[in-house]
Amino acid sequence: LSEGPLQGKRVLVTSGPTHEPIDPVRYIANRSSGAQGTAIANALMKLGAEVVFVTGPADAARPDGVHLVEVQTAAEMMDAVRGCLPADAAIFCAAVADWRVVSASDSKIKKTKGGLPTLEFAENPDILATVSQMDDGRPGLVVGFAAETDDVIDNATAKRLRKGCDWIVANDVSPATGIMGGSENAVTLISDGGSEAWPRMGKADVAEKLAARVAQALIK
Ligand code: C5P
Repeated sequence: LSEGPLQGKRVLVTSGPTHEPIDPVRYIANRSSGAQGTAIANALMKLGAEVVFVTGPADAARPDGVHLVEVQTAAEMMDAVRGCLPADAAIFCAAVADWRVVSASDSKIKKTKGGLPTLEFAENPDILATVSQMDDGRPGLVVGFAAETDDVIDNATAKRLRKGCDWIVANDVSPATGIMGGSENAVTLISDGGSEAWPRMGKADVAEKLAARVAQALIK
């Protein structure tokens, strides 16, 4: 571990999508490259943090030097997060699927003439809300992300209160922004002190700025 302001601090990061199986060859998922979560893990380690990285099946290469926990589904991610606490801070970058298929088929669903399959969904656990609202062992700083396409600040501000996290990093992922899957991000950091818009910058720069804020918050 490198020296730095986060030395001796344990930070949990979730990243990537989750995959919710329909049958052995099909799944539903959210779009998430894992790029921002990976950049955040790297930035935290640069400041000396011990990083626990709980990731779904993301395209991004896994960061070196983390405690890596790989999962597929939201339920597995929830269990992994519980198992990795306590932590000084937790940053939830994962694009968790809101729903899972109630009874995924053990065998491939066949195309049949004259019939379409019907999928029944159940709600997945909200990992960010669960950890934010823990009575015992809540990390001192809990950070969520809010990818929105409309009314970004209003929606993200409401989300912060609803989930109970300390900060929300809000970003506009409308297709025209090119942020989804791209190398840049334009975020607004929302806390109980209000909102602060950061200029558009590389995902690595967003990560370093956020990691610096985390260090400030944990050290004061
Ligand atoms: O409600 P929404 O999915 O937009 O909230 C996004 C934030 O909540 C992200 O930080 C995401 O990682 C987290 N989240 C979660 N578990 C879920 C859904 C979202 O941790 N089931």
